Amino acid sequence: MRSQNADRQVDGWPTEDNPLIILHGDTREIIRRLPDSSVQCVVTSPPYWGVRDYKVSGQIGAEASLDEYLEALVDVFREVRRVLSPDGTFWLNIGNTYTSGGRKWRDEDDKNRGRAMSYRPPTPPGLKKKDLIGVAWLLALACQRDGWYLRNDIIWYKPNCQPESVKDRFTVAHEYLFLFSKSERYSFNQDAIRERTSNGNGLKNKRTVWSINTEPFAEAHFAVFPPALVRPCILAGSRAGDVVLDPFYGAGTVGTVAGELGRRCVGIELNSEYIKIARKRASAVQRALIPMG
Ligand SMILES: C[S@@+](CC[C@H](N)C(=O)[O-])C[C@H]1O[C@@H](n2cnc3c(N)ncnc32)[C@H](O)[C@@H]1O
Repeated sequence: MRSQNADRQVDGWPTEDNPLIILHGDTREIIRRLPDSSVQCVVTSPPYWGVRDYKVSGQIGAEASLDEYLEALVDVFREVRRVLSPDGTFWLNIGNTYTSGGRKWRDEDDKNRGRAMSYRPPTPPGLKKKDLIGVAWLLALACQRDGWYLRNDIIWYKPNCQPESVKDRFTVAHEYLFLFSKSERYSFNQDAIRERTSNGNGLKNKRTVWSINTEPFAEAHFAVFPPALVRPCILAGSRAGDVVLDPFYGAGTVGTVAGELGRRCVGIELNSEYIKIARKRASAVQRALIPMG
């Protein structure tokens, strides 16, 4: 796509016939090439700090300090704001984590292979062993200070959360989904995602606690979004034919949901193995959408 800005150019842009473009590389470089105001909605789940090793150089999430991690994401999301149309929305999923308590690595876990870590981040200055870092809110507030309008903190409650063998605190069963806008007024289709009232007779505004099970995804050894978390974001934040962006595309849940809902999608991902998985997944959805003759 060419824009008035001559140095902002990418090889290809999603069209009606080819609604999904996956761009391979470091999102910090690729996103700078996307034209201003070219997407309507952004839905993403960035790598968490020191939680998973995506085994590729240039990955975000492996920074030596919390401040460097936050700065890296705020920089990416500043570019997201430039790329977003003035009435667009940005939906950011992130969970809170604890300090590692001085451990330097984490073993491979049979149930969750992505959890093996060759490094663990140091305890940030001012925090202690066992402290909840509050990284989700640190990131949300840093984005707000950087210029985003912070509009909602949605609790993604996971009824089937991972059990934890902790004895001195509760098992964590939620993550956050922050809704940001670029402007004071923006496009938001509340009607598309209303909920049934408890007596079942009417509809009400969707509430800020969403109860959604995580879904296992055999091919990728990292956390993929459940499509049910992404669907309301795309329905409220875009219209049919609009472009949705995910700058940390992973196995491509945002692209598959966007495709199901008749939206176009741009994904950016660093790890070529994940892009292969995402392409396979997208073509399965495309096949499912072709009416049987
Ligand atoms: C939490 S996962 C996203 C999963 C995705 N939401 C899904 O449903 O499949 C985060 C992704 O960010 C990617 N990533 C990490 N650093 C990156 C970077 N600098 N540029 C682009 N992608 C990066 C990782 O490879 C990983 O696939």
